[in-house]
Amino acid sequence: MIIRQVTEDDLSQVAHIEEVSFQNPYPADIFTFLFEKYRETFLVIEQGGTVLGYITGIDSWREGHIVSLAIHPAWRNKGIAAQLVEEICMILKEKGKKRVKLEVRISNEAALNLYKKVGFEEQKIVQNYYENGEDAVLMKRRLQ
Ligand SMILES: CC(C)(COP(=O)(O)OP(=O)(O)OC[C@H]1O[C@@H](n2cnc3c(N)ncnc32)[C@H](O)[C@@H]1OP(=O)(O)O)[C@@H](O)C(=O)NCCC(=O)NCCS
Repeated sequence: MIIRQVTEDDLSQVAHIEEVSFQNPYPADIFTFLFEKYRETFLVIEQGGTVLGYITGIDSWREGHIVSLAIHPAWRNKGIAAQLVEEICMILKEKGKKRVKLEVRISNEAALNLYKKVGFEEQKIVQNYYENGEDAVLMKRRLQ
């Protein structure tokens, strides 16, 4: 298994993992946009050319922002997401970012546990953040 920067050829596999992972998946063209604009912080973990999971982030002036993360259902609970989060945090730190933030559905226990385990702290609840009216938890982690 290796973690590496995404390539254009990976994008269809990334979109597929997104589709099987979320009730309201991002459309495939969002991944093309993220690939074109933010590929340094768009990582996949793969084995023999098969993408097992991905993480995408963007960076603004001081802060990184994790946009999406998903692991193929057959490859969950093996520590893969935790590795991807560590890797993107390392890249954001190397780019001089002081913090990284993300939003997660308040009902997403797996993701909330994951982010707490890798050092994120809950900042606040953002009401009505999602299209179905669900609240988000805003979480942040310091990078230095
Ligand atoms: C959330 C998700 C990314 C976790 O990926 P993963 O590779 O299975 O996670 P890891 O194996 O690295 O787990 C790390 C920690 O996360 C937590 N965790 C992961 N899956 C969990 C689950 N189903 N229930 C509760 N806690 C869970 C645990 O604390 C785990 O540590 P442990 O194994 O020591 O208990 C994966 O379930 C997924 O793709 N879900 C659908 C998409 C999604 O919700 N993405 C996040 C959007 S913000």
